[in-house]
Amino acid sequence: MDFSAKTGSAATLRTDCAVVGVYDNGRLSQAAREIDAVAGNLISGLVKRGDFTGKAGATLLLHGAAGIPAKRLLLIGLGEQGKLDMKGWRKAHGAAVSALLNTAAKNAFSFLSMEDVADGEPYLLARHAAEAAEETAYRFDELKSKIDPTPARLGRITLWFPDRKSQSAAARGFTHGKAVADGQSLARRLGNLPGNICTPTFLASEARNLAASNAGLKVSVVEEAQMKKLGMNALLSVSRGSRQPPKLIVMEWRGGPKQKAPVALVGKGITFDTGGISLKPPPAMDEMKFDMCGAASVIGAMATVVALELPINVVALVPAAENMPDGLASRPGDIVTTMSGQTVEILNTDAEGRLILCDALTYARRFEPSTIIDVATLTGACVIALGHHLSGLMSSDDPLAQEILRAGADAEDRAWRLPIGEDYDEGLKSNFADFANVAGREGGAITAACFLARFTRDLRWAHLDVAGTAWKSGRAKGATGRPVPLLAQFLMSRAGVA
Ligand code: BES
Ligand code: MN
Ligand code: ZN
Repeated sequence: MDFSAKTGSAATLRTDCAVVGVYDNGRLSQAAREIDAVAGNLISGLVKRGDFTGKAGATLLLHGAAGIPAKRLLLIGLGEQGKLDMKGWRKAHGAAVSALLNTAAKNAFSFLSMEDVADGEPYLLARHAAEAAEETAYRFDELKSKIDPTPARLGRITLWFPDRKSQSAAARGFTHGKAVADGQSLARRLGNLPGNICTPTFLASEARNLAASNAGLKVSVVEEAQMKKLGMNALLSVSRGSRQPPKLIVMEWRGGPKQKAPVALVGKGITFDTGGISLKPPPAMDEMKFDMCGAASVIGAMATVVALELPINVVALVPAAENMPDGLASRPGDIVTTMSGQTVEILNTDAEGRLILCDALTYARRFEPSTIIDVATLTGACVIALGHHLSGLMSSDDPLAQEILRAGADAEDRAWRLPIGEDYDEGLKSNFADFANVAGREGGAITAACFLARFTRDLRWAHLDVAGTAWKSGRAKGATGRPVPLLAQFLMSRAGVA
């Protein structure tokens, strides 16, 4: 989809569809009033009759409005006047695009940007509008033999901005928003692809594809034989039960000064998690194809970095493996020596994410990162703690934690911090190895982070548990692409471009 910024009057603009807002209790926005005046009180009449209330997210499509050249008129409910924030703004544009996609409109002109939005400078309005539009238009239909015919694809959305200055700020917002949305869509696609297609080998080839079309991106893959040499026995213990060879994908972007230490991103890439010998129960096990969404999000964020050619150094590491039960699979009680030299008793083979992550975190040390953030669909406990709205954030570094929370808030992709520390860590003790891979049931998201913390001593490290946010279940089942917006915002802020 293309986006542009222009000025003009809602009453006289030629467009396939004019998009205007109406507030709760039927209070018309300025653009709605302009149209109302020339269109014989069309909108105020509707409102008076109770056919449109302006409830947030509501839409009403009108055809053949007299007095205006727009072919269609789309009313968008904006909720309470004076209370429109960036979340509401995104919701409004999502609703608009959703309605527009059911029409044959090829373009639309949105006047919603005439409204007051909290912290809504043109750059942010444009960026969030673009992201919300692309997020709504996303479809996963590559594995359907028949694709629903759509009458026409909405190809362009123009947003009203009054002058040169706001228009050029908006143009920047559109560029950034599209790059974030593209990274997010890539993450969603990888997440939605099933385990029989999206294997560790497939993820590696997708990463290579990205590099093939972007000269500045370097991708290499640590293969199984090399992992053995490096002593990555925790990672290898997870893939032992699978016919799929594990991969450690390394993506390097050096957009910043040569000597500057990179930010490292590490994403959990379990392409299917059966639980291994500690087999999961059948209900919803199909959703464990989403257990590589952490990996997908760092690959997606990397795509954004590359698209925007951010002036920053970033290394993305993706340990990818499949967790299957098999004659060769790890048994509960098995003890392995991790790449760090520390030994781990695998009490539960379903706590496999931390086993692949710990060796990837150790491997990441060779890049001497200034900051390291891992992203993982790590624990069901995190879903119990935070539900599906916020990602769990754990870090022993307060400034880094604040920086990540800020990025999440700015990107409308929020996280919530949970504690870590000695008291929780004690649960990991083992009678037979240095420590175990699980503690008790309580505080499971936190003890998982404590496990990872044992591999990130002396690093500026944070952990994002996205088990509750990376995908949706039920009727809307599918990957969300979170936390690509958060990661992209974090890197854009670090790069000083947003
Ligand atoms: N991939 C799962 C976590 C998960 C479960 C995410 C359900 C989303 C929904 C992870 O590998 C896992 O199985 N974790 C275990 C850890 C436990 C054995 C300590 C869990 O959460 O049950
Ligand atoms: Mn598991
Ligand atoms: Zn898992």
